[in-house]
Amino acid sequence: MLGSEVAAECDRLELNHLCTDMEVDISDPLALREFTEGKDIGWIINCAAYTAVDRAEEETDLAFRINATGAGNVAKSARRIGARMLHISTDYVFDGTKGAPYLPDDKPNPVSAYGRSKFEGEKQVFANFPDAAMVRTAWLYGVIGANFVTTMLRLMGSRSELKVVDDQLGSPTLALDLARAIVVMVNSGREVKGTYHFTNSGETTWFGFASEIYKLASRTGHARQELKLTPIATAGNPTPAARPAYSVLDCARIEEEFGITPRPWEKALSDHIAHLAEASK
Ligand SMILES: NC(=O)c1ccc[n+]([C@@H]2O[C@H](COP(=O)([O-])OP(=O)(O)OC[C@H]3O[C@@H](n4cnc5c(N)ncnc54)[C@H](OP(=O)(O)O)[C@@H]3O)[C@@H](O)[C@H]2O)c1
Repeated sequence: MLGSEVAAECDRLELNHLCTDMEVDISDPLALREFTEGKDIGWIINCAAYTAVDRAEEETDLAFRINATGAGNVAKSARRIGARMLHISTDYVFDGTKGAPYLPDDKPNPVSAYGRSKFEGEKQVFANFPDAAMVRTAWLYGVIGANFVTTMLRLMGSRSELKVVDDQLGSPTLALDLARAIVVMVNSGREVKGTYHFTNSGETTWFGFASEIYKLASRTGHARQELKLTPIATAGNPTPAARPAYSVLDCARIEEEFGITPRPWEKALSDHIAHLAEASK
């Protein structure tokens, strides 16, 4: 999802870039060495990850192999070839008990296997490449790949009732907006180092997010008019992986250093749904 948006943004700005997917397995140092050697690479942007949050409770070794060892391998490769590196991490490294937006330097305390694997990845990236940059994001959705908006739109076209949790707070983030921020950072010519946060601005619950999707999709004719949306509590509807109850990220650093002002999540969502409606004509 994010990688394809970063590639599209590089295309749009006519920046030289190479994209890889599973054919360069980041958990395989040899594959990374073969891919990177002999190329003039200025930046490596690592969007590759194991992202199945619930499945990671069962496939914990695999999640760590990709999100921790794999991220460390990418950092080693970047350092070996003299490239800079930007790595992506997640709000799920936090436990959600702070009750105020998380700062980049707040102490992670993940509550799921996925969160632990991503936190271990953060540590391995900086251990292998102290000058690396990292951007934590949250609640990502976009055109490509499985995500909350795509799932909701599919269900809203077929179901008469949807129950959505209303006690986890976060900031929905359009992958396109994050991709643009990443490209601004790496293309800025300025120092890009350490931990940043980027999400769209504002906060809501998954129920609030679903309600906004429903409102917008009703306008474009992509939702049933008689749909009933019901807010539910996480406690009565447990998932295999625990999620932070509050994972809003403070994005002041990226704004101060790069002049990147995230737009409100409702505006980004509205543009995204309009784009999907246009594309489906
Ligand atoms: N999605 C969210 O809500 C969210 C929220 C916060 C942070 N993030 C972070 O944002 C980043 C981008 O996430 P995303 O949503 O764009 O994820 P995504 O759509 O799942 O993309 C991850 C990509 O990595 C590939 N991949 C998996 N294992 C790999 C390996 N060993 N070597 C090379 N590529 C591999 C996947 O391939 P396959 O599809 O073939 O497995 C997939 O194409 C990740 O670091 C994620 O942790 C995501």
